[in-house]
Amino acid sequence: MRIVFATAELSPIATVGGLAAAAAGLVRELRIQGHQVDLLLPDYGGVELVDERISTLEVPSWVGPARVRSGRHAVVGDIHLIAVAGIERSHPYLRPDGEGWPDNTERFLGFSRAVAAFVEANRPDVVHVNDWHTATTLAALDGSIPSVLSLHNLAYQGTAAADWIPKIGPRGLHYEWWGGLNPLTGAIALADRIIAVSPNYSREIRTPEGGFGIDEALGFRGDAVVGILNGIDTEIWDPATDPLLVSTFSALDLTGREANRRALSERMGFASDHVPLATVVTRLTEQKGIDLLLPIIPVLAEVPVRLAVLGSGDASLSAQLHAAARSHPESFAFVEGYDEALSHQMFAGADMFVMPSRFEPCGLTQMQAMRYGAIPVVTAVGGLVDTVIDLDLDPRQGTGVVANAADPVAVMAALFRLARRITDTRRRERIQRRIMSIDWSWAEPARKYVTIYRDLVTTD
Ligand code: ADP
Ligand code: GLC
Repeated sequence: MRIVFATAELSPIATVGGLAAAAAGLVRELRIQGHQVDLLLPDYGGVELVDERISTLEVPSWVGPARVRSGRHAVVGDIHLIAVAGIERSHPYLRPDGEGWPDNTERFLGFSRAVAAFVEANRPDVVHVNDWHTATTLAALDGSIPSVLSLHNLAYQGTAAADWIPKIGPRGLHYEWWGGLNPLTGAIALADRIIAVSPNYSREIRTPEGGFGIDEALGFRGDAVVGILNGIDTEIWDPATDPLLVSTFSALDLTGREANRRALSERMGFASDHVPLATVVTRLTEQKGIDLLLPIIPVLAEVPVRLAVLGSGDASLSAQLHAAARSHPESFAFVEGYDEALSHQMFAGADMFVMPSRFEPCGLTQMQAMRYGAIPVVTAVGGLVDTVIDLDLDPRQGTGVVANAADPVAVMAALFRLARRITDTRRRERIQRRIMSIDWSWAEPARKYVTIYRDLVTTD
């Protein structure tokens, strides 16, 4: 099958959150399974391609001609980097001070029109767009090519003033929402299938509580809305071969894990003893619920549990985490930043991994953590429900602990419940072997996407 796949993020070229990893993982697996994917990404600048060809794409609209750099990227493989006015920036969405670029609407609506022009020129079997940044592509197409919209996060909708509606394409009116333009609701109306990144998220977003104000738009689409759980790249995330670890290990032989635990404890300034060690690897946003951990920090020493957080984002939350680390250095550590190497080490060295999300479309970190033997403590939201089975509900197949609410008391109870359970080393290792053996690869999810593409092509 020939698929045009458009995304605003892609690992390792343009990484902000899980969209980057999910897009890269799915496209890689689709290619392994024999499909031809034209991968379209904004040309934010600074990316080198081998065998580069430069062409000009006529984009019939205010956007003007777009420059397309096509070639092979060392990690990603074949890719088309598309430049429209203003797209080239140091960060896809944010200025250095953390605020959004003031022209993000123009940048991504322009990019989406260029994607549509590419689709028209190449006539693939299917066009697949992701989140609001590429959602208005469908406004500029006539619907004759089957389309799929993936929903990675409804919290970001890219809404804009109504005067943008006529600019996105002939089918722009579908994007009108409460007097303005909503890229997501328009694409939800026009896409042949809408795929949420986990089955549970596909249900939550059709409820008023989980629908971010657009649950009704999703409700209208009935069975066209489905959920497919993301995978992770099991080659990058493999403790048996990971060059970023102090020592490698596997479900069959956990021996090397202890050295990682020791190295991590030392780096976090903790004593190297048997006190359960929990980690967090995250963006610091409201979604991730990291503020819920703040009231827990002063009591960690009493349980005892140690907790280390790696995260970047919200400045006031960072300041609070730094302050807590200064007050409780023996049991809490905070490393501010986005640090890929350290993230691997935090999964490999921890006994537990904490993810107290208020909402979580899929979540990749809990899967990465499990692959490295860090037992997850999560809230019962989104993809966390699809990936973590509570050990108390099912002691034989349980994979972690699920807090019954996204509040400090429930998260604390869940964390301490797991800490108590794993003081017995044999018991802990049994759970670790189990979670490390789960197949989180993209093979199965990619097959599900292909089944959907095929359905659309044959019923067309
Ligand atoms: P989201 O996309 O909402 O941020 P996900 O769990 O889907 O959450 O994906 C986050 C991705 O980014 C994962 O691959 C994770 O390992 C990585 N990541 C998140 N925060 C950090 C960080 N502070 N340092 C390094 N990697 C991070
Ligand atoms: C979003 C969501 C996250 C999901 C990721 C990839 O960033 O916040 O839960 O895993 O997209 O689909």
